[in-house]
Amino acid sequence: MSTATTPSSARAVGALRVLPLLHPQGCRTYVLADETSRQALALDVHLDLVDTVEAAVRDAGWTLPYVVDSHTHADHPSGAGALAARFASTRIAHELAGHDGVTRHPADGDTLHLGDQAVTVRHAPGHTPDHLVLLAEGALFAGDTLLIGSVARTDFLGGDAGQLFDSIQVVLEGLPDDTLLYPGHDYEGREHSTLGVERRDNPWLQLDRATFVESITANPPTRPANMDALLELNRRGTAMPERISADGAIARVRAGGSISVIDVRTGGEYASEHIPGSHLIPLDQVAARADEIRAVPAPRLLLCRTGQRAEMARTTLAPLGISGLTVIDGGIEAYVARGGDAVKGKGAISLERQVRIAAGALVALGVGLGTFVHPAFYGLAGFVGLGLVFAGVTNTCAMGMLIARMPWNRAPETAGGSAGGCAASAPSAGGCAASAPAAGGCAASLPPSPTES
Ligand SMILES: [Fe+2]
Repeated sequence: MSTATTPSSARAVGALRVLPLLHPQGCRTYVLADETSRQALALDVHLDLVDTVEAAVRDAGWTLPYVVDSHTHADHPSGAGALAARFASTRIAHELAGHDGVTRHPADGDTLHLGDQAVTVRHAPGHTPDHLVLLAEGALFAGDTLLIGSVARTDFLGGDAGQLFDSIQVVLEGLPDDTLLYPGHDYEGREHSTLGVERRDNPWLQLDRATFVESITANPPTRPANMDALLELNRRGTAMPERISADGAIARVRAGGSISVIDVRTGGEYASEHIPGSHLIPLDQVAARADEIRAVPAPRLLLCRTGQRAEMARTTLAPLGISGLTVIDGGIEAYVARGGDAVKGKGAISLERQVRIAAGALVALGVGLGTFVHPAFYGLAGFVGLGLVFAGVTNTCAMGMLIARMPWNRAPETAGGSAGGCAASAPSAGGCAASAPAAGGCAASLPPSPTES
């Protein structure tokens, strides 16, 4: 995973150490630590990064008294509840968030102490009414208010463009230009900026209030994929189910969630019939392409022909820290039978049928050769029979994995979209920013240039 993940990657910022964790979806998780007291704070933990943050904190010998969500996330699942439970941390969010499990609702100006170091909490509504930013010595952790070269969108969850303008003015007032800016999102892989650079170059900071409001509301990006499901998860802390019915999957896809369907069948099967917009990542590639799967917006649905390979994919990916994986019961057969939309292409024989055909052919060949050439060939039939017993007992299938690699089962060049990398796919998946996200991130759309405003 292309992200800083070890305590040694933490950089000194003022008296604190800051460990930024860059999720392929464009989201940012931070760990702030005081080396003297060895107390740390985790901010905006993506559910995929809970294991990573836990390992980093434990490896460094830190404790984790605080886990903070800057706001109600609409584009990714929060790992705050899961992480706080592992460290018995105080879980923090604004009162307006209304999240179950939050144990402290800070007021504007409250401080969180890491040893002798104070981190100031500011209420900064605009992107959402419940938005908090954190101020440490030399750094602003801005969440989804001010982004690098951009600002947050304000078109959902009670966002208010005028409030965002005011919040940015209030928070930035008096902060020196060399203050580091750590945003809640960045879709271009940048880790941080400075307030001086943003004051000079960020087009949104060149606008007066009226133009800012007009520009941010004029061209709202697309809604984040799975937004309703994510809000439920983030507010209620509901665990993502391991399985979902075909009817449930159809409803999710019709609500815009096809971008979160990962099809683990072979390329040939996918070409013959697939859910439009779904990602093709064959079962034998899921571990190697884990970062692509992380870039798929959660909660993610795993699909195969009947559900068996999808379950194997879920089992393979869980130890890699990838959460939010739900198997579609009955696979694409049930999905289509229940009325789900699918694109049909050239017919391809399913992998299960190919295995049956290959196994039967080998048994017949062994019996034939054993009868007419040499009895030793009966061993071939016996070997295949034992292999099928082993496959049934262990729920694995070496023959299937081998056949899946055959040329006719590989993905055509144009099959399905790739699950996408971090910068390109996430904004189109809907996030929280304003400029790049003309395609829809947590950012707003491009403002007019200063000369236009
Ligand atoms: Fe956001």
